[in-house]
Amino acid sequence: MTNQATTAPPISRLRCIQCGAVRDTADQDFRCPECGDLLEAYFPGWVTPSGPRAGGMSASELKERWLQRKLSLLPLDQSGVWRFRELLPALNDSIDAITLREGNTPLYQLQRCARIAGVQTLFAKHQGMNPTGSFKDTGMTCASSFAKQAGFSWVACASTGNTSASMAAYASRGGLKSLVLIPEGKISWSKLSQSLDYGAVTCQLKTDFDGCVRVLNDLVKRMPVYLLNSVNPHRLEGQKTAAIEILEQLNWEVPDHIIVPGGNLGNSSALGKALIELKELGLVSRLPKLSIIQAHGANPLFRSMKESGGKSIQPMSADTLATAIRIGNPASWKKAVRVLQSTGGACEEVSEVEIALAKAEIGSDGIGCEPASAVTLAGLKKLVRSGFVKVQDTTVLVLTGHVLKDPDFTIAFHKGELFKGTQFGEQVGVLKSEQRAPIVLDPTVDAVQRVLKSAESSH
Ligand code: F0G
Repeated sequence: MTNQATTAPPISRLRCIQCGAVRDTADQDFRCPECGDLLEAYFPGWVTPSGPRAGGMSASELKERWLQRKLSLLPLDQSGVWRFRELLPALNDSIDAITLREGNTPLYQLQRCARIAGVQTLFAKHQGMNPTGSFKDTGMTCASSFAKQAGFSWVACASTGNTSASMAAYASRGGLKSLVLIPEGKISWSKLSQSLDYGAVTCQLKTDFDGCVRVLNDLVKRMPVYLLNSVNPHRLEGQKTAAIEILEQLNWEVPDHIIVPGGNLGNSSALGKALIELKELGLVSRLPKLSIIQAHGANPLFRSMKESGGKSIQPMSADTLATAIRIGNPASWKKAVRVLQSTGGACEEVSEVEIALAKAEIGSDGIGCEPASAVTLAGLKKLVRSGFVKVQDTTVLVLTGHVLKDPDFTIAFHKGELFKGTQFGEQVGVLKSEQRAPIVLDPTVDAVQRVLKSAESSH
């Protein structure tokens, strides 16, 4: 900690999204002590007499500086999160940043999926290409660094598997101990194995994700444990950078739509916040519409928008094979509603069969993703059918997790076993064209040749 840093005015402050109360530190539950709602970071120094400035720089200077950093060998500059540090809360000493060189993920054009969805230009921002295989790393580098700065030795989260994998990795890298609460039997083995390997104390609670959150919220009131769920505003600040990257990768040409999966609704809130801030700072002149897609079995935001225009939400008991978004009581729903309203985005729901089909379609574009990420393509198809997305619109799907995150789902899908014995059994005909089960053969050239010939004639 340098004297200079401690005496400088804070670059960002924390503000309650409900009552507007402003503070510089948060309690361990990251709730407003006045009204109990969520906090968000805001940057009072951006308003200057010579117009909006972040880190004292104009829009064009920021763009230039961020590009220059790509040539730097400094760990902080090599991180696709800290590269944009003018738009993030500042650490007292950047040496404290825990980074695995997260971010800098690819933006791929999806040609086959574009044809399937009926649009001309479709991109995938693949956040599964982060160090632990999900978008969570972009938030975790930020929030775990603040945990370390605040002097905590324990960090904790409730998770459907990706947050826990990410937290466990960043905690270990930063010399912190981590506690993971996950719903027993409801997360993929890949994600569970990550948190074990990265060194977390991993507890499988006999409840769902929402039950894990309840236990954790009480725990942090009793123990000096730093909460790393997405109610932590520093997590969302880090996650903002994916939106900045998308714009930079499109050479600051604003796409018409960005489509994200919705679970606990932190990520949609973060990406939307980034877009709004980029516009405030003059880095873009208009906003893309940010749309949120939920699984039908875990659709509290979709219902809220339909039934009350986002004024209230009814928690539900959630169920979907896309276990990452199996969430019935999303913490950040008010922030997400604000993003939908400010960007003019839509909220849609998609069925289990639609998710499974879209996942295989993204796979066969040579990209792949985990089930929760595939709601984006499934949702896009619906939004094209309803006319909300036009054929000539440019759309970016945010793929949140890597294809290897849930191999059990993928193998069951291709073997035609995913929906066996379920209520969806009758709808699976539409999946046939995307199912590519492994073929067991005698070890002879003839046998393989026959398969090759038959595959050739069916293509
Ligand atoms: N996609 C994936 C792959 C996720 O892991 C999650 C959330 C989401 C989408 C939804 O993002 O919650 O910000 O709306 N996973 C959390 C976890 C809940 O614990 O890993 P959200």
